[in-house]
Formats: sequence, structure tokens, C-alpha cells
Amino acid sequence: MTAKGLFITFEGIDGSGKSTQAKLLAKTLGQQGWDVLLTREPGGSTGAEQIRALVLEGDPDRWSAETEILLFTAARRDHMETVILPALGKGQIVICDRFADSTRMYQGLSRGDLRSIVDTLTALMIQQEPDLTLLIDIDPYTGHSRAKARETKEERFEDFGVALQEKMRAGFIKLAKEFSDRINIIDGNQDIKSVQKMVYDLVKGALK
Ligand code: ADP
Ligand code: TYD
Repeated sequence: MTAKGLFITFEGIDGSGKSTQAKLLAKTLGQQGWDVLLTREPGGSTGAEQIRALVLEGDPDRWSAETEILLFTAARRDHMETVILPALGKGQIVICDRFADSTRMYQGLSRGDLRSIVDTLTALMIQQEPDLTLLIDIDPYTGHSRAKARETKEERFEDFGVALQEKMRAGFIKLAKEFSDRINIIDGNQDIKSVQKMVYDLVKGALK
């Protein structure tokens, strides 16, 4: 399917402010009259939300990184087929809170080097990369404490601790250099309004 819309993703470590900024961006663009679809991963479709519970709840050692790659990719494939591609096909702006870059980091990097498996499976099963990715960069201690303060059941990855967040942060910054055509780093240590302005300025450029 050929996409006509614009596909924007937010990435970053847990608690960096992705959901907050994704919602604010969707609201701003909606108020300007753009046709916006806000969605998230893991999840975003009925089937993928069911897989979300499997991967985010329970013992941190519940799944190997290899099994997780399959589960996250299965969830993403369903999300693409049923939600993202139809929306892009209609010309909508799709804003997605996390996407394949999260799998490149959390599964491809966290427990050994499995990047090539993630990339191969993504090329085979997902194909589409975002048009624009906003990487919210934040100090891992701040991110971890913001994320833990939420007190949900979905804490499998947060329970791996700050060390994992540090590794993911460094990995994301490296990834931004690798995909410098689409990934933009935003300083997430600033207040919500300042981050919102930086996000909007970058998106404005992509809307032209
Ligand atoms: P993520 O989706 O990246 O995990 P959230 O957007 O859910 O992050 O934010 C985590 C918590 O931090 C929330 O309670 C949110 O209100 C708060 N928060 C988000 N952005 C900021 C910011 N720039 N400064 C202070 N607190 C923030
Ligand atoms: P999310 O709900 O976005 O958490 P947060 O708001 O704390 O950033 O995602 C939950 C967890 O899922 C997060 O710790 C990262 C993990 N995750 C992966 O490990 N691989 C993936 O492909 C995705 C999309 C998320």
C-alpha cells in the first residue's frame, strides 16, 4: 500500500515524556484542522493490545529477547495492517508512541546483540519506517523515577532498573546518528511546554 499521510513516531526511554508530548502534538495539529490519528505501541489495535499484556506484565525473565522480538513484531504487524496503513492511506497524520526503533533498542540491544534479527524481521514483516521520529532524550534517573511513580502493572521493563535505561539511552542516541535523515533528538529534561515547542517546530518543517 502506498502511504499518502505522514507517519510520526516518538521514541525514548521510559518516563521521557513521549505519551505527554504525543497527546499534545495530536491536540495541536487537530486544532489546526489536520486529520490526526494518535496511537501507541505495544498495542494500538485489538490484537496488539492483547499481546501488550503478555509482554509488559509479569516476571522480567518471563520471555527471552528472541521471543520478545517475535511478540513485538507480531503486535506491530497487526497494528500496521489494521490501523496505521489504512490511516496513512486516507492521508491522515499518524502519531505513534513508540515503534520499531524501540524493538531495535529494547530487544536488539538489551540482552546481547540481536539488532540484525530485529532489522531482518522488520524489513520482512513491517517494511515501513516512520517519516519523522522524535527522540526525547532524558537523564535515565529522572526517567526511571517518573516512570516508577506511575505505579501500573506494566512494569516488566522498568523492573530491569536504571542500568537498562542508561544502555537504552546511549543506544537511542547512536540510532539517531544512524538514521539521521528521520530521527531528531529533543532535550526532554526541560519543562513540558518547552519540549512541546521543540516538537512542534520540527513537525512544522515536515508538514510543508
Ligand atoms: P513516557 O510516555 O515517555 O513514559 P510520560 O509522558 O508518560 O512518559 O511521562 C511520565 C511522567 O512524567 C508523567 O507523570 C508526566 O506527567 C511527567 N512528565 C512528562 N514530561 C515532563 C517534563 N518535561 N517535565 C516534568 N514532568 C514530565
Ligand atoms: P510504554 O508503554 O511506551 O512505556 P513507557 O511509557 O514507560 O515508555 O512501553 C512499555 C515498555 O515496552 C517499555 O519499557 C519499552 C517496551 N517496549 C519494548 O521492549 N519493545 C518494543 O518494541 C516496544 C514498542 C516497547
